[in-house]
Amino acid sequence: MAKRILITGGAGFIGSHLADNLLQHGYEVRALDCLSSQVHGEHARRPDYLDPDVELQVGDVRDPVAVRRALEGVDAVYHFAAKVGVGQSMYQVADYTAVNNEGTAVLLEALIERPVERLIVASSMSIYGEGLYRTPAGELISGAERGLAQLQMHDWELRTSRGDTLTPVPTPETKSPALASVYALGKYDQERMCLLVGRAYKIPTVALRFFNVYGPRQALSNPYTGVLAIFAARYLADQPPVIFEDGLQQRDFVNVRDIAEGCRLALEVTRAADKVFNLGSGEHFTVRAVAERISAALGKEHIEPRIAQQYRVGDIRHCFADITLARRVLGYSPQVAFDEGLGELAEWLQGRTESAQPAADAGTELAARGLTV
Ligand SMILES: NC(=O)c1ccc[n+]([C@@H]2O[C@H](COP(=O)([O-])OP(=O)(O)OC[C@H]3O[C@@H](n4cnc5c(N)ncnc54)[C@H](O)[C@@H]3O)[C@@H](O)[C@H]2O)c1
Repeated sequence: MAKRILITGGAGFIGSHLADNLLQHGYEVRALDCLSSQVHGEHARRPDYLDPDVELQVGDVRDPVAVRRALEGVDAVYHFAAKVGVGQSMYQVADYTAVNNEGTAVLLEALIERPVERLIVASSMSIYGEGLYRTPAGELISGAERGLAQLQMHDWELRTSRGDTLTPVPTPETKSPALASVYALGKYDQERMCLLVGRAYKIPTVALRFFNVYGPRQALSNPYTGVLAIFAARYLADQPPVIFEDGLQQRDFVNVRDIAEGCRLALEVTRAADKVFNLGSGEHFTVRAVAERISAALGKEHIEPRIAQQYRVGDIRHCFADITLARRVLGYSPQVAFDEGLGELAEWLQGRTESAQPAADAGTELAARGLTV
């Protein structure tokens, strides 16, 4: 008999792609999702992109009754339901803590009553804060930070105490966390809570630290979503994207189809239990290069990005994934080249200018709250 898998947040961007992957591999899929208005719009209905074979239960992960009902007859759980805006988490503190931390606690209490074969929790690169760096002398530095005075002078790179520039290197799972936002704190809490409760109650648990995931279905109406969707929304509205700092900060952009595959492997590979994995592309690009590529993919090369030369509270300079562990243990191997993925994204984006509009306001809102320098 086919195994039934529950995805909390399964009507969202990554959850829906994972559902497609699992259905293709013969699983039955149930989603528990509250269809949050920030992601799905007011009076949201089941999203069109969600495969008709997904059983959608509309409910809140903080509601023990809804969670218990969603767990009935389920063999494994992916816990993706969350509020996902780093900047927004810095002022909607109570809401983020309720959904992300408390929601996880409610799910875990239900799982203690009704254990499953595997629990997989979505964590995030944001828990690292700054990535790993190397000094000119070759020493690895994991706690690097930039001071306010430096940022006010628009000196964006990380430096040694002597002022030498540090070079970013791929960040492995062993880098200690440096939690710089309420969102990151919540993600780390979710990850640790799942692993420790999982261990105590013999529920094999895997935590996956996603890097910058992009692809079709990412909510353009949500101004706190990923940078690629935000840039795309601005281009589609014929407005320049706003790039913080000087645009030379580097990130790891991973296609959502590769993430979905990594998630399935985390379910199927026995040795993955009790471990934490980075899921990224293993490649990195500057934010400015990303803006250029997406503008080209959308035919908007004539719109120059606006380089804000401004620091956003909680932002980091460089972080990209070392995916050696996922390759070795899970057999994870990202397949989607960045330009191919951008082409697909551009195709999906065409004709979505209206839903793109609100994304223009996120930077203004952060500035109004004193969260930029
Ligand atoms: N997209 C990324 O780049 C990225 C990176 C790192 C980690 N993650 C994590 O991956 C997971 C999925 O992210 P996504 O990009 O698909 O986001 P998303 O916003 O598209 O999906 C999240 C889903 O959770 C649902 N949800 C929100 N609050 C809920 C609640 N209280 N009860 C039930 N459902 C609720 C939303 O309606 C939405 O459908 C999240 O846990 C996120 O923190 C995402």
